[in-house]
Amino acid sequence: MKFFIDTADIDDIRELAGTGMVDGVTTNPSLVAKTGRPFADTIAEICAIVPGPISAEVTATDADGMIAEGRKLAQIADNVAVKVPLTVDGLRACKTLSDESTMVNVTLCFSAAQAILAAKAGATFVSPFVGRLDDTGTDGMGLISDIVEIYANYPEFKTEVLVASIRHPMHVVEAARLGAEVVTIPPKILGQLYNHPLTDKGLAAFLADWEKTGQTIL
Ligand code: G3P
Repeated sequence: MKFFIDTADIDDIRELAGTGMVDGVTTNPSLVAKTGRPFADTIAEICAIVPGPISAEVTATDADGMIAEGRKLAQIADNVAVKVPLTVDGLRACKTLSDESTMVNVTLCFSAAQAILAAKAGATFVSPFVGRLDDTGTDGMGLISDIVEIYANYPEFKTEVLVASIRHPMHVVEAARLGAEVVTIPPKILGQLYNHPLTDKGLAAFLADWEKTGQTIL
């Protein structure tokens, strides 16, 4: 299972990359806007920090525009995955860019039918947004279950399920239970995955007992 982090914040990326848990990064126009920094420079910097796939999203809405933007983004570094929206034009762009051996992440996926189209368009990744579905009263993880089941029926589908819009640790656990290949996790939630009160309590008790022995290991 691969962990991507869902942020364009260089400081966060640098810090989290040091944990050895980060296999890639996803950004989107909202996350880039939050940094207030130039897009291409930000993507180049992220690509140099994390060797795995780094998603950079196009902003054109027509296929030709997306293809042109995608080609430009792909030139930034070998590990750029061009992110396109799940629209008719987005999937046309996905097919063209994938045929050119560029990694493509098809984003804003909200249904199993859309995920089938992304796989047929040769996407490297499809990004179903579980949190945003939950927000509407629909079971986001139910969609992941459907997509994983459907893709397993067709060995020719090479698209990896990248679970996005993650809001809490149980989204990560459930994605793992279902066999999704990738989760993209906001930095705060990656931190929450480590926490358990019994770990803290147990460690405090071990250290207190060790102290009583008066010994040191080094
Ligand atoms: O990168 C796309 C996705 O993860 C967005 O998450 O929290 O804005 O729904 P969110």
